[in-house]
Amino acid sequence: MCGIVGALSKNAQKIVLEGLSRLEYRGYDSAGLAVQSENGTVHTRKATGKLAALRAEIEQNPLPAAALAIGHTRWATHGSATTVNAHPHSSHGPAPKVTVVHNGIIENYEELKAELKAEGYTFVSETDTETLPCLLSWALAQGQSEAEALALLTTRCRGNYAVLAVVEGAKGTRLLATRRGAPLCLGLGKGGENFVASDPLALASVTDKFVYLEDNDTVVITPEKTEVRDASGTPVTRPVQVLNLADDMAGKQGYKHFMLKEMMEQPAVAARILEAYTKDGEVQLPLTAAHAAAPAITIVACGTAYYAGMVGGYMLEELAEVPTQADVASEMRYRKKPYPKGGLMIVVSQSGETADTLAALEHAKAAGQTIIALTNVTTSSIARAAHVVIDLMAGREVAVASTKAFLAMVLVLQLVALKLAALNGQQNAATVASHLKDIHLLPMHLMNILAEAPKWEPIAEKLASAKNPTHSMLYLARGMLTPLAYEGALKMKEITYIHAEGYASGEMKHGPIALVDETLPVVNIAASNDGLFEKTISNLKEVEARHGQIILIVDEEGAKQLSYPSPTPQIPGSYPAPTHPYLIITPSVPRLLLPYTHLLPLQFLAYQTAVFKGTDVDQPRNLAKSVTVE
Ligand code: F6R
Repeated sequence: MCGIVGALSKNAQKIVLEGLSRLEYRGYDSAGLAVQSENGTVHTRKATGKLAALRAEIEQNPLPAAALAIGHTRWATHGSATTVNAHPHSSHGPAPKVTVVHNGIIENYEELKAELKAEGYTFVSETDTETLPCLLSWALAQGQSEAEALALLTTRCRGNYAVLAVVEGAKGTRLLATRRGAPLCLGLGKGGENFVASDPLALASVTDKFVYLEDNDTVVITPEKTEVRDASGTPVTRPVQVLNLADDMAGKQGYKHFMLKEMMEQPAVAARILEAYTKDGEVQLPLTAAHAAAPAITIVACGTAYYAGMVGGYMLEELAEVPTQADVASEMRYRKKPYPKGGLMIVVSQSGETADTLAALEHAKAAGQTIIALTNVTTSSIARAAHVVIDLMAGREVAVASTKAFLAMVLVLQLVALKLAALNGQQNAATVASHLKDIHLLPMHLMNILAEAPKWEPIAEKLASAKNPTHSMLYLARGMLTPLAYEGALKMKEITYIHAEGYASGEMKHGPIALVDETLPVVNIAASNDGLFEKTISNLKEVEARHGQIILIVDEEGAKQLSYPSPTPQIPGSYPAPTHPYLIITPSVPRLLLPYTHLLPLQFLAYQTAVFKGTDVDQPRNLAKSVTVE
């Protein structure tokens, strides 16, 4: 989603452009940069599309030498992706002229706009952002200090935001900043330089020292110092964190796409998690008997993380026997839910910055729930707000479509379930050790499946071809594998733009079966040992009877029992429809490993189809890696 970078340095413009390029993976549709030259004037350049367009614009219309620059990548919310709507935005009206970049949404911008118009300000864009420079300008014109003007933003603006501002004609080189809900951190330079960004990664080449700002903090940044005040206006010192971001800066390492690299890393991710969180047949996680005594667990997350949470819910109920409900954060945050006394909330988020997930966390925390955060970024807002933080250890995920983080989420949730089960007595030491013995074979199973992936390319090629006239797909599964149907369909639609729906197989007769004809690809996810095999296969037969184009992901033993000819002579997408399913065969594994072994083919099917279609795999249209607005 939107990215912010600011620099006070003699190389300000270069540092900001480089910082923005490090944030490119997050998804955006326009970009802009403003510099303040020595005489105090502010110069802005903007362009729609990728950063290359902004660089070209700057090359055509060079900016003056400057020791201050702010930059932004915009993911459109209010107003489409045009140059006028791109950031930075400046105030138009009474002096001083203020220029800002902003992440987040100002919910009461219409009301503020009306007030500011009455004060003589005019507006040129469709954005909510434009109210911010005007409000700051107005406050400064009233004689308020920079800190007071920033504080006015925090009291007058509703919503979540991170804002950087520069005031034309200000004495010396000074940047103003504030945040609420959206992330913003200061990067401390070695002397005569300071930086600020929405993600430390943007500043990885210029500093390793960061200060995370709290909600409603206001900051005046100069090349020599950073003056942070809390919500009450009192000067405060926030802790300095030293981050080693070297691994995060590693590129594609020879892979064609980050998504492919990240899918291939999954055996290593599983091994890393097991190494960190298991020892001598026991789970080692910072969970206590008090956590295990919770009468109920709520899991909240969004998108892929929500589907991982659903799988985790099945595991928690089965292993620890604690009633568990997974819900999407955007719904949970507004529910009038009677949380149980002593209940646990498990918050799952790769980025740790998802606005809805953070809000659901705060909602439950205020209701007295103990919050356990599973996140891939242990310095994130979600990590900082939680009572217990468990690192997902997936390593930075760059591709917008989440793959290795999903696997990490399910695996860590399984370990959480085993730990709680050991603590609350639902599993004894021997059963926990036996589960862990099975789980330790996971990296090997995953490696074996990855070696099979090239075999699935012919299906992807057919799916990508225009011969699939419905341009739609159905994914079906049962039980603990049902969330995989949702996840498989999500991956397919995210990166191929083919419409795909995930359904619990048992629901098919209640509606979606109307879609089935000889043109519809139907992915069935089945396993001989999940206790539901016969029922899943009955549903598959119903699709077969209507000549649907079946892709069956099934374990080796299940494939044997079905005795379809293999390899399948015809593949889905051929017309007329094949007489029997195309099989993707996974290894036979203990039941609780099925969510992992059946996951990989789903990821690859989406990836390979996208490659054949030629879509932008790593940065699909309209999507953002970290969804920091509601
Ligand atoms: C899909 C995907 C998204 C995220 C969702 C939550 O591939 O990546 O659905 O899972 O936006 O993001 P996090 O996990 O960062 O909270």
